[in-house]
Amino acid sequence: MSKIQIFDTTLRDGEQSPGVNLNKLEKLEIARQLERFGIDRMEAGFPASSKGDFEAVKMIADTIKNTSVTGLARSVKSDVDAAWEALKGAEHPALHVFIATSPIHMEYKLQKKPEEVIELAVEMVRYANEKFAQVQWSAEDASRSNLAFLATIIEKVIDAGASVINLPDTVGYATPQEYGYMFKYMMENVPNIDKAILSCHCHDDLGLAVANTIAAVENGAKQIEGTINGIGERAGNAALEEVAVAFNIRADQYPFETNLNLKEIKRTSDLVSKLTGMHIQANKAIVGRNAFAHESGIHQDGVLKHAQTYEIITPEMIGLQSNLLYLGKHSGRHAFSDKVKAMGYELSEERLKEAFDKFKQLTDRKKEITDDDLFTILTEVQTDSLAVDKYELDMFQIEYGSTNIPTATVELKTPDKEIVKKTCTGNGSVEALYEALDKLVSEEVELIDFQLSSVGSGADALAESHVKMLINGQQMNGRGTAQDIVEAAANAYLNALNRYVIQSNVDNKKKIFD
Ligand code: KIV
Ligand code: ZN
Repeated sequence: MSKIQIFDTTLRDGEQSPGVNLNKLEKLEIARQLERFGIDRMEAGFPASSKGDFEAVKMIADTIKNTSVTGLARSVKSDVDAAWEALKGAEHPALHVFIATSPIHMEYKLQKKPEEVIELAVEMVRYANEKFAQVQWSAEDASRSNLAFLATIIEKVIDAGASVINLPDTVGYATPQEYGYMFKYMMENVPNIDKAILSCHCHDDLGLAVANTIAAVENGAKQIEGTINGIGERAGNAALEEVAVAFNIRADQYPFETNLNLKEIKRTSDLVSKLTGMHIQANKAIVGRNAFAHESGIHQDGVLKHAQTYEIITPEMIGLQSNLLYLGKHSGRHAFSDKVKAMGYELSEERLKEAFDKFKQLTDRKKEITDDDLFTILTEVQTDSLAVDKYELDMFQIEYGSTNIPTATVELKTPDKEIVKKTCTGNGSVEALYEALDKLVSEEVELIDFQLSSVGSGADALAESHVKMLINGQQMNGRGTAQDIVEAAANAYLNALNRYVIQSNVDNKKKIFD
């Protein structure tokens, strides 16, 4: 078995998914879960891109101890400096510096000659090496680059101190055969390749990201880059959970080993989906809702007779368990705290109290509290910016029925602690509610997308709402849960708004490739 390192870029490339903007507490929560999942390196963000991202990377670097934390930098000294400032507190800080190497990128985007690109790449790796013990260098758009040129620049950046060479299929254009061949070529044509490891990074524009990743590993790549649920720029990146399970189930074909704990897949996937607001398609491999559902009678009959007739992966392998009930109305603070620890959460006293209060409120309205409910409460509490002035919902009341006009009255506390109240009508209850909220807040708000789902099943399941809104022209997402769907909708609206309020105090987030 050959050992393969896993480099997760959910918090950087994944966060570049359209409409995703995670705050630093959410990023930290995902980072903690990635550590539990057993990844070897995490790319926490792009520190030079914004003050918000800088702070998030720093917080992760200062907290995560068992996983190497890295940050992205363009081939600009100030990017490397910003990354060092954010990462220097990490146990194993690393830098990921990149420059484009394809003819189209060099000519039109960088407007540099190939020799200038080599010079800059070498200079940046040298510069980065003065600060970072580990420097990863990426050839952006490697898969559309000239192989001989790529071999030349790789040899030089290895000499300059790069210990990981990443060859991305930036636009998801390569076929498995081409992508695999590029790795074989570098293994055979870069004289000092034994001084570094090769890494693959695939985008899914043609739906080939996982296949390309595997082709790279079969041809010498020792590190895989990808994201949870395959989120990322455009069609996303290679889904790490798919690669990990493929290696395990088809170990006869793929003699590769990782440090991943497959039982953490479900929870990692749920957390990323919840916090990014990116729903997982029902038929997605490994983590989709239907991945283990057998619909046709013939399949059901087969599975009942012998599970492996139609089931090649067990739900248990990825940590999918039926919602075990541990706590209920009569559970005390002690039992609750034990359960929180058993679920792997580290909550401060203040957050534990808040979580316990929410749990108690829920037990008043819901008979059975499931693991999914607790996961929702704990994630919400853990990512709440507690000591920040923000909008708070004091109360709302909705009147609607089949024969009258839906009318909502909302009372809000503003970040200046002022109490404001408004009544509005709408075509539906949520529209009336949002109309009243729009009138009460001082920001300009436009709703772009609204989604509602349930946490788990049953008539008393928690409702979860995700919204995308333009707030003062900036796209923000928000999520909210409650037992009632309208209250979940109100919470999602305020969550997006408060994110904007908090973020605009820090910095206006800027994506790097726009
Ligand atoms: O896809 C890509 O080329 C990237 C680089 C920044 C590594 O994400
Ligand atoms: Zn990428």
